[in-house]
Amino acid sequence: MLRSPLLAAARSSRMRSLIETVPATRSVVGRFVAGSATEDAVRVARELTEDGLRISLDHLGEDTTDAKQAETTVLAYSAMLSALAAEGLAEGADVSVKLSAVGQSLPVDGEKIALENARKICVAAAEVGATVTLDMEDHTTTDSTLGILRQLRVDFPWVGAVLQAYLRRTEQDCHDLSGEGSRVRLCKGAYSEPEPVAFQDKTDVDKSYVRCLKILMEGKGYPMVATHDPRMIAIAERLVMDTERVPGDHEFQMLYGIRPEEQRRIAGARQTMRVYVPYGDEWYGYFMRRLAERPANLTFFLRGLVTKG
Ligand code: FDA
Repeated sequence: MLRSPLLAAARSSRMRSLIETVPATRSVVGRFVAGSATEDAVRVARELTEDGLRISLDHLGEDTTDAKQAETTVLAYSAMLSALAAEGLAEGADVSVKLSAVGQSLPVDGEKIALENARKICVAAAEVGATVTLDMEDHTTTDSTLGILRQLRVDFPWVGAVLQAYLRRTEQDCHDLSGEGSRVRLCKGAYSEPEPVAFQDKTDVDKSYVRCLKILMEGKGYPMVATHDPRMIAIAERLVMDTERVPGDHEFQMLYGIRPEEQRRIAGARQTMRVYVPYGDEWYGYFMRRLAERPANLTFFLRGLVTKG
C-alpha cells in the first residue's frame, strides 16, 4: 500500500530536500549505502571480499540532466576502479552503472553521450580485470538501455544487463539474452510501473520471475539471480541442479545491508554470491526504493528519526 507513494516520493525534489536535511537520516541510510567516498567503497569491498563474497560497486546517481555531471560520474568510476586495483580487489569485481547517470536522459544526444561514457567505464574496467553491468531503470528506458548494451557488447562481450521480472516483455527479453556469454541479472524490478507494461500483483511478479529464471538457467548465458526472496532462491537452487549448472556458470546477488547472513550462507555453500554496494552522496532515490520494498524499513527509518531527532 505504501509502495506507490514512496516510489512517487523517490522522484520528488521537495521530499528529497526535506529528507536529506534531517540529520538522523544519515545513520539509517548507512545501513544500505557504504558511505560517501571512494575509500568507503573500497573499505566495504575489502570486508566483503575477506568474507568470501564478490562485489558490484555502484556510484550513486541517476537522472542526470547536466553533461558535466555525467562526465564527473565517469571519472568517479575510473577513480574507484583504480583504487580497487591498487588494493588488489579489482580482479573479478563488477561495477553497476545507471545509464541515466552518464547522460541517457540528456535532452540532446542523450543516448549517444551515455554510450560513449559507458564505453569509457568499460575500458577502465577491462584494464583492471573487472566487469560492468548496466542497471535497468524505469520501463521508458528499457529499449534504449538494451540498444546501448548491444553496442557495448561488440567490443566488451562481458557487459551485463539487468532484466526486471515485473515487466510483461521480460520473458521475451530473457529468450533474446540467453545466448553464449550473455550475463543477465534477473531482479523483480524496483520502480512504479503502469499496469499495461508491468504485473501489479506480487504473485504475478513472482510467477514471472520463475518463468524468466527457467529460461535463463536453460540457456547458454550466465544467469545472475538477484533476489532476497527465500522462495526464489530455493527455486533457483533447484533449477541449478535440474539444468546441471555448476559453480562458476551462474551467480547469486543481493544488495548491501539486506539479509547479510543469507549472503554468507550462500557463499559458504560454494556458490558465487555477489553483493551490490552503492556509495556516494546521491543516495536519495536508491534509499527511497529500499524503503518502498519493505514496510519494516520505513518503520525503522521513522523510529530512527524519532529517537535521534
Ligand atoms: P521481495 O521484494 O519480494 O522481498 C523478498 C524478501 O527479501 C522480503 O520479504 C525481505 O525479507 C527481503 N527484502 C527485500 N527487499 C528488502 C529491503 N529493501 N530491505 C530489507 N529486506 C528486504 N531493480 C531494478 O529495477 N533495476 C536494477 O537494476 C536492480 N538491480 C538490482 C541488483 C541487485 C543485486 C539486487 C539484489 C536487486 C536489484 N534491484 C534492481 C532491486 C530489485 O528489483 C528488487 O526491488 C529488490 O531486490 C527486492 O526484491 P526481492 O527479489 O528481494 O523480493
